[in-house]
Amino acid sequence: MKKKIYFNVPHLNKNSKIFIKKVLEEKSFTDGYFQKKCEQFIKYKTKAKFVSLTHSGTSALEIAMFLLNIGKGDEVLIPSYTFTSTANSVIMSGAKPVFVDVDKNLNIDSEKLEKKISKKTKAIIIVHYGGFPCDMDKILKLKKKI
Ligand SMILES: Cc1ncc(COP(=O)(O)O)c(C=O)c1O
Repeated sequence: MKKKIYFNVPHLNKNSKIFIKKVLEEKSFTDGYFQKKCEQFIKYKTKAKFVSLTHSGTSALEIAMFLLNIGKGDEVLIPSYTFTSTANSVIMSGAKPVFVDVDKNLNIDSEKLEKKISKKTKAIIIVHYGGFPCDMDKILKLKKKI
């Protein structure tokens, strides 16, 4: 018998069906009660000044490129192992994605990252692959060089 290996398993509890029903009844899938609740929760947890949910990771990346004013002539450093949206968001902005090799955790290699920073580098997109955190101490120090 074949065993199915899930990419991810959604966390469901006894309230899940009740909440999904509420969303369906509200007929507001992207800007309703639960969206506001999530934003409030993230704002509280992260102490961020503003929190705005997007309908997908792809649109969040595209919006980030736009808000950072990234475009033609700019370079954005991205991990060589990631979802296509990472590179696509950079290309859509008109900038050039520059791939940086990944380390043994499949995260952007912070040692190799430094060598790829150029005068054209405008941003670094990091991906905490599979939830395993990147070397943020080093990356935040490198950020100051941009
Ligand atoms: C690293 C990474 N970035 C972006 C995305 C795109 O997210 P979404 O499917 O919500 O657009 C994915 C999706 O799997 C992803 O794994």
